Amino acid sequence: MCASGVAIAFRAKFIRRDCPFGFERSMTTPLETAARFNRISGIYDETRQPLTSEALDEVAAVLSRDGVQRILEAGVGTGRIALPLQQRGLQIVGVDLAREMMTKARGKGIQDLILADANRLPLKAKQFDAALMAHVIHLLDDPAETFESLRRVATKEIVIFVRDRDGASATDDGRASLRDTFRKAAAELGYQMPDRPGGWWNGFRKEKEFLASHPPTELVTVEDREVVTTIRERLSFFENRSFGYQAGIPEETLRRVRNRVLESVDADKEVRLQRVERMAIWRLAN
Ligand SMILES: C[S@@+](CC[C@H](N)C(=O)[O-])C[C@H]1O[C@@H](n2cnc3c(N)ncnc32)[C@H](O)[C@@H]1O
Repeated sequence: MCASGVAIAFRAKFIRRDCPFGFERSMTTPLETAARFNRISGIYDETRQPLTSEALDEVAAVLSRDGVQRILEAGVGTGRIALPLQQRGLQIVGVDLAREMMTKARGKGIQDLILADANRLPLKAKQFDAALMAHVIHLLDDPAETFESLRRVATKEIVIFVRDRDGASATDDGRASLRDTFRKAAAELGYQMPDRPGGWWNGFRKEKEFLASHPPTELVTVEDREVVTTIRERLSFFENRSFGYQAGIPEETLRRVRNRVLESVDADKEVRLQRVERMAIWRLAN
């Protein structure tokens, strides 16, 4: 959807060819999103923190409590959520833009997969008890539009996993300090690290704003635990360009930033991250 904008001059790099008089709210097209995730599909699982099996038990219990059996997961990715739910007796159909991500999901045993955009689901209305989406909102142009698309195919509820940052400031937790370390090293080498669209924390802001504009019927915390990592481990993710915004960093810069970080900090120092995962549930009235 094109947004008309006086800020075009400042956002010129985000103007798309098909949007000549304005700019897209999203910085990436579906094709670009697919390309980004296809590229990292091989390392995706090892660079993301999994939900614990207790948390997954809790997710499955909440879904069964609500009488949910058949689920559409939009943005199914490598099946990190779909597989454990399937193993807990739920029936999953996955949709994703990225074919390679779904190849991983298929390899794990998720059979029903559809290559499609969650905003244009090639599915009949009201086919699923629930439509579920995990770790996708931050990638969406217009989460409200996707929400309506999910609503069309679900009868009982929509479930969206959100990573809340209640209490902890989004800018002063371990993740921010890690990113600052990489940014600082890059800046010292004269390279401005690319930002996430709208800033590092745009993704979390997007989730928060969406919850404020679409208050869920229920918010269930399924996980709240501390994760201990090291700068060295995160550096290996950085070297592998595990996160989308790292895609365009030139190889040589990546290598020099890595070396600079290793010279300037104790790479084995522990960094503590809080992993909070909540299920936002909207019960549908139909
Ligand atoms: C961060 S991954 C999350 C994957 C999985 N849900 C998980 O939690 O591991 C986001 C996934 O959403 C997909 N995606 C992003 N936008 C999408 C859209 N509009 N329609 C379908 N899939 C989308 C991406 O291709 C990617 O596989």
